[in-house]
Order: sequence, then C-alpha cells, then structure tokens
Amino acid sequence: MRPINQYAALKIVAGTSHPALAKGIAQQLGIPVTPMDVSKFSDGETYVRIDESIRACDVFVVQTLCNPANDYLMELFIIVDALRRASAGRITAVVPYFAYARQDRKTNDREPITAKLVANLMTTAGINRVLTADLHADQVQGFFDIPLDHIKALPLIAGYLKKKKIKDLVVVSPDFGSIKRSHELATALDTALVVISKRRSRKEHDTIEDMTILGEVKGKNIVIVDDMISTGGTIVRAVEVLKKNGAKDCYVGCTHPLLIGHAAEKLAQADIKELIVTDSVPLPHQKFLKQMVVLSLAPWLAKTIECIHQGTQMGMLFDQLKSDYLEGKR
Ligand code: R5P
Repeated sequence: MRPINQYAALKIVAGTSHPALAKGIAQQLGIPVTPMDVSKFSDGETYVRIDESIRACDVFVVQTLCNPANDYLMELFIIVDALRRASAGRITAVVPYFAYARQDRKTNDREPITAKLVANLMTTAGINRVLTADLHADQVQGFFDIPLDHIKALPLIAGYLKKKKIKDLVVVSPDFGSIKRSHELATALDTALVVISKRRSRKEHDTIEDMTILGEVKGKNIVIVDDMISTGGTIVRAVEVLKKNGAKDCYVGCTHPLLIGHAAEKLAQADIKELIVTDSVPLPHQKFLKQMVVLSLAPWLAKTIECIHQGTQMGMLFDQLKSDYLEGKR
C-alpha cells in the first residue's frame, strides 16, 4: 500500500550557492521556487526571510557546498532555522556537493573528522533529511543519524560515453579511493580497469608527490573518472603520466567540477579530449572550457524529491533511471 504523505505542499527553496540548479529542479517538478530574501547585514551576517507561508509544507532546500563552503553552510543553517520557526512540516537539505567529506577519518594525529562534524551540525540545525550526490566516500552516509538519499552521476557519464562508441577504451582510476566508482564505469562500458597509485604530500595536501600506473595503457583510449576536480592536480598529472606511457585520447568524467584557483587554466592546457562534468556546482563563464560537456543532475534530483515527497519506494526508480541513462533513453 502506498504510504500517505503527512505533509502539505512540496516546496523548493534556493540558497544562493546554485540558483540555476534549484530553478532546474523546480521546473522539472512543475512548481516555482519559493520566494525568499537572502541578504547581508553590513557586518557580513546573513539575513533570511521566507516570503510566503510554508506552514506544514515538505520543504527542500537546494544548497550546494561549493567555494566558499563555510559561508554556504552557515547560510543553509540560517535558512533552516527560518523554516523551522515558520513551522515547516519537514526540511530536506538538497546538497549536491557535500563539502568537508574528504576528511572522513584521521590520517594523522590531532586532526578533525569534518564529515562527521558537518553531519552533526546539519542534524542540530533541524534538517530532517539529506539528499546528496556522489559523496566522496559511501561510508559518510553512516555519519548521519537522519535519512540520507544518495544519487550517483555515473550512469549519466557512462550513458554519454557509451553513445560515443569509443574503440580500444580502458577506464583508469586516478587513485585507490576511486577504484569502486571506476570499476562500476568499466563494467557499464565493458572495458578493462587500470589503476593509478597516487601519493600525496603529508604536509601540503594539494601536492601530489608520485603517480604510478598499474596496468597497460599503451595504444588505448582512456576514460578517467573521479568524484571531484578541485585544484586539477590529480587529473592533470594523471593525463600527463598516461600520455607518457603511450595512451591515445583521454576523456575525463567527474561529478563535482570545483575548479579551485587556476584549475580551469591547467585543465585547458592538459591534453584532454573531453571533460564530462555535472552541474552539481555552478560553473562560472570563465571556468567553462571548450572541451567541457555539462550533464544536468536536475532531472534525477527532481524525481528523487518527488519520490521522497510521495513516500514511494526509491530503489525501483533508481534502477529505472540508471537503465534509461545507460541505454541512452535520457
Ligand atoms: C581524492 O581523493 C579525490 O577523489 C580527488 O581525486 C581529489 O580530491 C581531486 O583534487 P585535486 O583536483 O585537487 O587533485
């Protein structure tokens, strides 16, 4: 029997991090984005007012945690506080890019575990559920004691690549952390999997000390897939090493194109045939590269939101969407 939704209308509220994605989701759902005033006091503090009643409503706040993540996180908490005080029925944070997830364990003495800290802060702020995309590591789900739904961009990227029918293709995992994701892509594309062993500097987190290819790439076209491109160091170095070892065209797929600092320039100069990304974070004009293809997460997020709102089973929906993307029906 289909569960009865105990909440009033579904509402989409947009934080200031990615209004275009929020609009895209709302359009898919056939509803407007709920009007809200978000502004700054002269001392930099954030002011929020929801411009219409959301009493008892099922509210989805779209706020991706791209740079500056601290500001967007605080803004999310303030929006949620306003919603709670306005008697929203249920509040779901739609956080396509979940920042701070890379620090999901201690790798050295006296370090924090920020993924857990942010999960705790979200619950304390009054968020009832979270909907996110491609968490840095699946186990971060366990840091939340509230329901969390987790969508993956891999079927979109795999479906796109499948249509290209690239010959002699090999999937390359840019580090050990991406093996599972890369293995899934290799299975979807029916290719072999090669792994790069990456060693980062312990002192300078963004510096890569060494990359070694474990497998054969000579004469092969390559797809490298990663959850995020931050400084671009991992991908640029990986492409260099692959090319030196005789790889042909290099395609790169990633869910979260953060492109911090000079990443866009570095990627533009790298020998990348195509860079396939999603709109989990906004891409300002100056970071858009001619090799880039942007796939939108809005349809999948909207379907998931609908499912959460109606209280219907999600597994079947995800299986259907996955096969639609892989078979090129979407
Ligand atoms: C690492 O564990 C991640 O999956 C990415 O490979 C990494 O965070 C990308 O960062 P950057 O672009 O700065 O190398």
